[in-house]
Amino acid sequence: MSGHNVWTHKGTFLLAAVGSAVGLGNLWRFPYLTGENGGGAFILVYALTIFAVGIPILIAETMLGRTSRQSPIMGMRHLTKTHKTSRAWESIGWLGAASAFLILSFYSVIAGWALHYTWLMLTGSLVGADAQTISDGFNALLASPGLMTLYHTLFIAGSALIVGMGIHKGIESGLRIMMPALFVILIVVLIYGIINGDVGAAASFLFTFNLSDLSLEGWLQAMGQSFFTLSLGMGAIMAYGAYMSSEASLTRTAIAVAFVDTAVAMVAGLAIFSLVFGAGLETGQGPGLMFVTLPLAFAEMPFGALVGGVFFILVLGAAISSSISLIEPVAAFLVERFDMTRPQAVMIMVVAAWAMGLLTVVSFNVWAEGTIFHSLFGRSAFEFIELLTNIFMPLGGLMIALFAGWALTQSEVMKELGTNATWFKIWRFLVRFVGPAAVSFVFLRTIPQVEGYFIPALGSLIIVGAFAASQRLRHTKA
Ligand code: TRP
Repeated sequence: MSGHNVWTHKGTFLLAAVGSAVGLGNLWRFPYLTGENGGGAFILVYALTIFAVGIPILIAETMLGRTSRQSPIMGMRHLTKTHKTSRAWESIGWLGAASAFLILSFYSVIAGWALHYTWLMLTGSLVGADAQTISDGFNALLASPGLMTLYHTLFIAGSALIVGMGIHKGIESGLRIMMPALFVILIVVLIYGIINGDVGAAASFLFTFNLSDLSLEGWLQAMGQSFFTLSLGMGAIMAYGAYMSSEASLTRTAIAVAFVDTAVAMVAGLAIFSLVFGAGLETGQGPGLMFVTLPLAFAEMPFGALVGGVFFILVLGAAISSSISLIEPVAAFLVERFDMTRPQAVMIMVVAAWAMGLLTVVSFNVWAEGTIFHSLFGRSAFEFIELLTNIFMPLGGLMIALFAGWALTQSEVMKELGTNATWFKIWRFLVRFVGPAAVSFVFLRTIPQVEGYFIPALGSLIIVGAFAASQRLRHTKA
């Protein structure tokens, strides 16, 4: 049925999943979105969705991959057949492929910025530079579509090479060193921030929860970020789950991934905002946040050029291990479905995402305003692509939760999960009701015409209730 082999090591899935999860989402996107959305309230929604919705769906998605042992699209097709469910569920695979493509397109551009800063650090160009010089330098990078395209090309080509040659499993040993090293350097930056910045202001910004601070789209961004950071809702984890050993515990692995991922984001956030408040910078400066604050710290820190150079190399490593998990599901599908060779499949995915990435490149310069995206959606192409992913990922996650919780034969799901009956019931309650209700709630809450909390709450209950009733009906008929 499938040509898939299984990773030899029980811990390899954990490592690969952490490699996928920890990336620019933690270091770049989390701090910048938190800053734009006023801090604590954003983190509250983000953390709640990680733990009540993210972890159960992470378990579900891994489980789908592990039972089907195929790429997401073919795996979904296989499961709809063996479990005699509607074929409509296959759309989970397609939606995932679309998300992967959209995310990869901008991910590579941002990773390109890290490439630029690796270079600046290693050449010592920023040693002793002040805040103004550093932020001017960043703006100069943004102003240059040529330079950004060059870095974007280098990064995506590097990722393609790794996936195309199928050596990403060999990255394992690299990750084993890189991930802890990245964490250590983040702690070093945090300590620097505590000594020279304003960690008190950072902590109160991050951990003062006042939901009324959160804009309507902030809700969607916080939920989208919780899926983004866990690599959830689009098949990446399913693709990796297909290689997971049957003995490893799904629950424990999922909790570990979420825990490590959140820890990295929190340390990065604290470090960055300590520097922001210490230097009197703006919290809401947008996507450039990490690329302006961290070089500032490295510019003044003893051995800053070296520490900064190593830091950005590790960021690149974290970004590569994430980007390969964006390429993998689509490439695996093309191989299984159209009998392509691996390099061909990767080529198609990457060239398309590369071209799409040019939209992100120009969103920061020549197309920064006045484009069709601005007149139609009130935002740049890059911001529009981000908005789409903020919708697609939770939507994919919602469907995965419903599929695993309702459509699949539950006795088999329980066997695959391998937990006792109580845990199984808790998990099933979360994926059947809590996850879908939370996602629907946030979707409804984001619609400007729907005011307050009452209607979204009621609406999400009605949606989930109606779905549950229809599924019960289907099961009693069968
Ligand atoms: N989780 C990664 C990060 O935080 C990004 C990522 C990799 C991703 N693979 C994904 C996001 C799949 C969504 C889906 O940087």
